Amino acid sequence: MRFTKIPKLRIGDLEAHIPIIQGGMGVGISLSGLASAVANEGGIGVIAAAGIGMCEPDFSKHFKEANNRALRREIQKAREMTTGIIGVNIMVALSDCDDLVQAAVEEGADVVFLGAGLPLRIPKTSLVNRPGKVTTKVVPIVSSARAAKVIFQYWGKNYNHTPDAVVVEGPLAGGHLGFTKEQINNPNHALEKILPEVVSVIKPYEQHFNKSIPVIAAGGIYTGADIHKFIQLGAQGVQMGTRFVGTHECDASKDFKEAYVRCKKEDLVIIDSPVGLPGRAIQNRFLEEVSAGTKKPFKCPWKCLKTCDVENAPYCIGVALTNAKKGNLQKGFAFAGANAYRVDKIISVKELIETLLEEYEKAACT
Ligand SMILES: Cc1cc2nc3c(=O)[nH]c(=O)nc-3n(C[C@H](O)[C@H](O)[C@H](O)COP(=O)(O)O)c2cc1C
Repeated sequence: MRFTKIPKLRIGDLEAHIPIIQGGMGVGISLSGLASAVANEGGIGVIAAAGIGMCEPDFSKHFKEANNRALRREIQKAREMTTGIIGVNIMVALSDCDDLVQAAVEEGADVVFLGAGLPLRIPKTSLVNRPGKVTTKVVPIVSSARAAKVIFQYWGKNYNHTPDAVVVEGPLAGGHLGFTKEQINNPNHALEKILPEVVSVIKPYEQHFNKSIPVIAAGGIYTGADIHKFIQLGAQGVQMGTRFVGTHECDASKDFKEAYVRCKKEDLVIIDSPVGLPGRAIQNRFLEEVSAGTKKPFKCPWKCLKTCDVENAPYCIGVALTNAKKGNLQKGFAFAGANAYRVDKIISVKELIETLLEEYEKAACT
């Protein structure tokens, strides 16, 4: 092994050679292409389920079936391209969340990451062992120690069980954020602050259930030195999104990736998403028009997000993100993390991981 210092990431009986999870990125930004490339390098590759069926021909008529079919197909495709660890990211706020969890488990996803909401009801399927295979691990994504406490208390009391790991996502992440606008720049909510708080909340559950429950840090992690820093602060691994957009294997169009390469620090803005959460995105004409009060009329035959205020939403976020994924940024926008302005060229996943590992080694030696 060339790199000796970086620890492995163990989630139950799963073992990733490097402690890097590629964050699930909907709509269509992380599919089988990116996820399998990351898994092939020893990390955990994650397919995002949000809006995954939007490119299916029958999506407007049968959205649940289209999502289900597309998710199953992407997991199967990923499996053909890698023997590594494949996860699926599912937003709890999706109206077909339960269906998608079931599909992910039936297709043999190694891990299900549950974000954008508190996963209190345990996915039934997660407790069922598939013959000859390991159980799918369930990992909630939280933005505070309080949220972690609510989930762990509820699962402990009602199911005598705990999640297999937890991702703590800080305010520098891309996409929807689990913070109010005021909290985003408040140092009390910085990842450096909330990570150790979540670690302390989890500790008694590790003791009580006599198992290790890794805590994974996310949001603004950009270099191998950052990975080292958060591992020193108590994380067992990191989840990174933005940096993986700047790779050839990322499933978004070239224009979407170019928007990252072109953007400047001041272009990264916080928007009010129709989902009812703030989100971080790259400023463009579409978003300027929306904040000036322009409505982009749309029909919603199915409410894909439980929390979407369809009547008052100025645009359909699913359509806007699908347009952006395909490269039509006039009719949509790109979600991006606070460090997206640092992406200056598109490289391969292999090159990216090698760079991160070299940087980690350097940081660990100083
Ligand atoms: C384009 C984009 C789409 C995202 N979509 C999702 C999503 O569907 N579900 C989710 O839980 N997180 C989503 N995220 C968050 C990432 O999974 C990841 O946790 C986060 O971006 C980490 O911060 P970083 O981008 O600074 O590395 C998205 C992020 C980006 C940049």
